[in-house]
Amino acid sequence: MPPSPRYGLYVHLPFCLYRCSYCAFVSTSDLTVAAEVVEATATEICRHRRRRVLTTLYLGGGTPSLIAPELLEKLFAAIASTFTVEPAAEVTLEANPEDVTPAALAAWRKLGVTRLSLGVQALNDSVLRLLERRHDARRARAAVGSALAAGFSVSVDLMLALPRLSREAVEEEVREVVALGPQHVSVYLLEVDKPHRLAVLARERPELFPGEDEAARSYLAAARVLTGAGFFHYEVSNFARPGFRARHNLRTWRQRPLLAAGVAAHGHGGCVRWGNLEDPAAYARAVARGERPLAWRLVLSEDELEREKVMLGLRLAEGVDWATARAVARRLPAFAQRLDDFLSLGLARRGNGRLRLSRRGWLVSSELLQALW
Ligand SMILES: C[S@@+](CC[C@H](N)C(=O)[O-])C[C@H]1O[C@@H](n2cnc3c(N)ncnc32)[C@H](O)[C@@H]1O
Ligand code: SF4
Repeated sequence: MPPSPRYGLYVHLPFCLYRCSYCAFVSTSDLTVAAEVVEATATEICRHRRRRVLTTLYLGGGTPSLIAPELLEKLFAAIASTFTVEPAAEVTLEANPEDVTPAALAAWRKLGVTRLSLGVQALNDSVLRLLERRHDARRARAAVGSALAAGFSVSVDLMLALPRLSREAVEEEVREVVALGPQHVSVYLLEVDKPHRLAVLARERPELFPGEDEAARSYLAAARVLTGAGFFHYEVSNFARPGFRARHNLRTWRQRPLLAAGVAAHGHGGCVRWGNLEDPAAYARAVARGERPLAWRLVLSEDELEREKVMLGLRLAEGVDWATARAVARRLPAFAQRLDDFLSLGLARRGNGRLRLSRRGWLVSSELLQALW
């Protein structure tokens, strides 16, 4: 008998006390509806098919660390009554440093959280003020230390391509992060094609921001420090010590089934992709009416599935199998042409039946990937 399929579950908790200057994620600061929305999310979870096996669970946001432990408990009870959670499941909660207190750590541990993804973003107070974060560098260092001491596996989010952050400052910051001891680090270049206040500033005062070349140098410098310290650069933005890759996110990049619950949560399985309603009140009303709170649902063709596989696989150091990439290239001459250019420039390479991008290839991957759609 084939092994029964295993699933990941993503739960979105769309609440933040305040919207940071760089953020375009779905979240609201109206906490008065938090209890109702979390309870609706628990109800949505309970409507999933029974006893499927969860190997990863990810509570993302928004700011899941803002949600009171009693409410989180309802979510975890809904999950336990609906699914079979593997004893060694990876259970991640996104937390903002200012919410990491001894009481919160103890409550999260009791619920079964194994991994904290901490939104550190920077270890420089002037940069943190520009990002309009509610923590300072001291609080961020303390949060990493106390989460590790409490036995969590810790991932640190950092942002690059920001004003006031030279390449040298990035190197120093990444060295400091390594010294704090997290098992996983995510490094994101500021995206300014989204609707947020820093994007407006970047359009009005571009001279404040590092140019593309300087941003690329910062990214490469961060990667050098992390890989030099023993981290594996396994995805464009992600670095892990051996055994600590983000298993949940890997499921998305490898097209493994991912269930989803909560406002604006996205899921996928086989050729189906779907997303929930983004408005918390509309979401809660749909759940109360007994409906599935869907905003959209897509069924991909074989061709679209293969193109998605190439796009996602090329984000990973392990790459994508060459046969799939070649089949896609045969159907898409523009992709075939750019792939040839990438191979001849050394931005992509072929070996052991796989196609992989180099680190410099990752930096310019949009040139190649846009030919897929
Ligand atoms: C789901 S978000 C936020 C999680 C959590 N609420 C927090 O603030 O840390 C995950 C990460 O995406 C990154 N991010 C958010 N907005 C970004 C942007 N405009 N450009 C690049 N990275 C961004 C940040 O590093 C953030 O920690
Ligand atoms: S970065 Fe995090 S805390 Fe800030 S607004 Fe976005 S989701 Fe909320």
